Amino acid sequence: AAIKKYQFDVVVKNVSRLSHPKPIVTVNGRFPGPTIYAREGDRVVVNVTNHAQYNLSIHWHGLKQFRNGWADGPAYITQCPIQSGNSYSYDFNVTGQRGTLWWHAHILWLRATVHGAIVIMPKQGVPFPFPQPHGESVLVLGEWWNSDVEELVKQGNALGLPPNMSDAHTINGKPGPLFPCSDKHTFVTEVEWGKTYLLRIVNAALNDELFFAIAGHNMTVVEIDAVYCKPFTTSAILITPGQTTNVLVTANQAPGRYFMAARDFNDAPIPVDNKTATAILQYKGVPDTVIPVLPQLPAQNDTSFVDTYSNSLRSLNTPQFPANVPLTIDRHLFFTVGLGRDPCPTCLNSTKLTASINNVTFVMPKIGLLQAHYFNINGVFKLDFPDKPPAPFNYTGAPLTANLGTSLGTRLSKLAFNSTVELVLQDTNLLTVESHPFHLHGFNFFVVGRGVGNFDPAKDPAKFNLVDPPERNTVGVPAGGWTAIRFRADNPGVWFMHCHLELHTMWGLKMAFVVENGNGPDQSILPPPMDLPPC
Ligand code: C2O
Repeated sequence: AAIKKYQFDVVVKNVSRLSHPKPIVTVNGRFPGPTIYAREGDRVVVNVTNHAQYNLSIHWHGLKQFRNGWADGPAYITQCPIQSGNSYSYDFNVTGQRGTLWWHAHILWLRATVHGAIVIMPKQGVPFPFPQPHGESVLVLGEWWNSDVEELVKQGNALGLPPNMSDAHTINGKPGPLFPCSDKHTFVTEVEWGKTYLLRIVNAALNDELFFAIAGHNMTVVEIDAVYCKPFTTSAILITPGQTTNVLVTANQAPGRYFMAARDFNDAPIPVDNKTATAILQYKGVPDTVIPVLPQLPAQNDTSFVDTYSNSLRSLNTPQFPANVPLTIDRHLFFTVGLGRDPCPTCLNSTKLTASINNVTFVMPKIGLLQAHYFNINGVFKLDFPDKPPAPFNYTGAPLTANLGTSLGTRLSKLAFNSTVELVLQDTNLLTVESHPFHLHGFNFFVVGRGVGNFDPAKDPAKFNLVDPPERNTVGVPAGGWTAIRFRADNPGVWFMHCHLELHTMWGLKMAFVVENGNGPDQSILPPPMDLPPC
């Protein structure tokens, strides 16, 4: 195993897209930021030096950080932010994982521009469990705002409303030629006829689940969230913010230029999308003057495509890559997730929007929760996060617009070391149904079931897939439906869980688990590094 060292200088740089130049926060002046390359088993050390005006932290999304939450990165959860002018070295081992993941700023909405891919190759000499591709490319899907994002967020918050939506989707930071004056901001990847390529696709968008397709070419999905899956062929993929998907594509069509496109999936009543990003798959030797054709993407609200696609995802589940689904469960959790009005009990007519889990709107603490837990600092959080909503109701029935007694709090849920957990995430219709891509730090989980309407504890568990369910770190909870996940709490620490739509996270759709230390020699949280940023 090697040590891979990276220097990340967080600097402000002027960048222009859609003819709108503006200063953005970047890593090393690049948008998207640099790709981190490592091999399974390597140690990675990324020294982050903050030259920007914002205090920030960086999260290595999907890396498990076993016993090492100090390197996980969410601000005020596992560390205080790196102050402007200071540095912090994220030092972690890449153990038992290979595939595509990504990194992003984990404070405010800075991940709009502070993000990049992580490519983890299998151990030396270990082949992929699928045909070796001739080449590969990383495609980071994102969003571009013509205005300053943090300013828009401030304006929105002052009104209690969402900030303006972004102006374009992007592929590797580029919106593509469907937008005016954007020909030069088009990502092109070159292929040779007859060869097969691996595309490593990351959804780094803040608030949009995306469909992605390539004109004229099917894709074979081989890996999701850095876990191999049973290969299946599809004309389009769905990818939520936080997720990664590896696909194989064979250049077997008439040599030409083909658009790859990313567009919104929206199952909530939200304005029609006109932000489609395009990039070009170009066969070697074909002149740049050939006009590419657009792919057929699923309709913006095509939930039946999403159902079929989600049900096609299965763990590889071979002796080499088994799906170790917990079959007996120590702890059953049922979390309602949804939007609502301001939790202030005396302002029933408030129009300020908020979000909650089991009626708790999470309040960020002033110091890192991991420090508070590790050093036994009292008064920072409570360990009383409810295992279920205060009272059952018709979660997905007619919209309930009234305040339902949401409460504010920094409340965490305690899990015994190595306990097995089943968590049902139930979308609510408190204000409107909306899908929520949920991300759990510190773990992968198995997605054992999903469905529409209210979860039925008497009937639905019998239909769970406990054989080869997909294993991942981020999963969509369907609008007006539910998703059930299982995981083993074998990683001691404090682990954030939240909706990966930045708007919903900001509104409080988040909580954290405290996983206790075990009694064994390698079952407790490692000591904090010397350079951990002070609070
Ligand atoms: Cu990708 Cu808590 O984030």
